[in-house]
Amino acid sequence: MMVGEGLEQIQRSVQGMRELLRRDQVFDFVQPELHPAVDTRNNILLYMEGVSVSFDGFKAINDLNLYIEPGELRCIIGPNGAGKTTMMDIITGKTRPDEGQVWLGSSLNLLKMDEAAIANAGIGRKFQKPSVFEALTVWENLELAMAGIRNTVAVFRARLSAVQTDEIKRILSIIGLEKERNGLAGKLSHGQKQWLEIGMLLMQKPQLLLVDEPVAGMTHQEMDRTAELLLSLAGEQSVVVVEHDMEFIRSIASTVTVLHQGQVLAEGTMAAVQSNDTVREVYLGE
Ligand SMILES: Nc1ncnc2c1ncn2[C@@H]1O[C@H](COP(=O)(O)OP(=O)(O)OP(=O)(O)O)[C@@H](O)[C@H]1O
Ligand SMILES: [Mg+2]
Repeated sequence: MMVGEGLEQIQRSVQGMRELLRRDQVFDFVQPELHPAVDTRNNILLYMEGVSVSFDGFKAINDLNLYIEPGELRCIIGPNGAGKTTMMDIITGKTRPDEGQVWLGSSLNLLKMDEAAIANAGIGRKFQKPSVFEALTVWENLELAMAGIRNTVAVFRARLSAVQTDEIKRILSIIGLEKERNGLAGKLSHGQKQWLEIGMLLMQKPQLLLVDEPVAGMTHQEMDRTAELLLSLAGEQSVVVVEHDMEFIRSIASTVTVLHQGQVLAEGTMAAVQSNDTVREVYLGE
């Protein structure tokens, strides 16, 4: 396909979406499915125990135990290939472990659920590359995210209730993009796109937010803003952040988990982890 043809096709589909966005047709708004009840009475939101997975005989995750409390902000660090992304793949149902237990609260067995059901249960994942709809405005992106991609047409045909409008405004303020709300997402800076995507995840009211390398490619200013944002989210929901940038981790960390060869090598405060000899050897001393 020629480049020109591709562009034309994109323009046509954007045009189609804009048609759908006309507010003169009113349909019942499709509410996002309510998350199933998550039982956190034992003060654990995410429970991983004895989890292992091999790829062609190589143990990428090896007897991993990880417990995340409700509202906690947890940082995961570790050298390349330590299994950090694979761990997120397991939590979100993208990869099935060979062994172990993975639960959301004490009532939802994530290993019995597919990716869509896990997302619906309140686990949101932010990949490294921002994936916002560049040809739509910031506001439209958030609107679209409200009911999830599967209900796209219903969203565009629906009229927003005051509650839903307020919710979009609330998220805009959290992610600091109020001024940009009517601008195209494609015009945002790299950092702003990342915040918009976090906002889109928040629209689905996750209980657990998984964020893989959020500050890669960001300016210092954007990194500071991202630190503030993630800190402000913790409490409302649990946030698990994988990041290589130590300065960034230091600026947000309460509990740090060091992964190495698919296992937890150390866990504790940043200070404790940094003064751990084994950690220094395999990671921080690099
Ligand atoms: N689908 C797959 N098939 C085969 N091997 C895989 C697969 N996914 C991951 N691996 C391997 O598992 C190991 C752990 O990879 P993973 O991507 O989880 O590491 P990571 O800690 O996220 O590293 P990085 O910091 O570089 O992102 C690596 O050796 C990787 O090559
Ligand atoms: Mg990774």
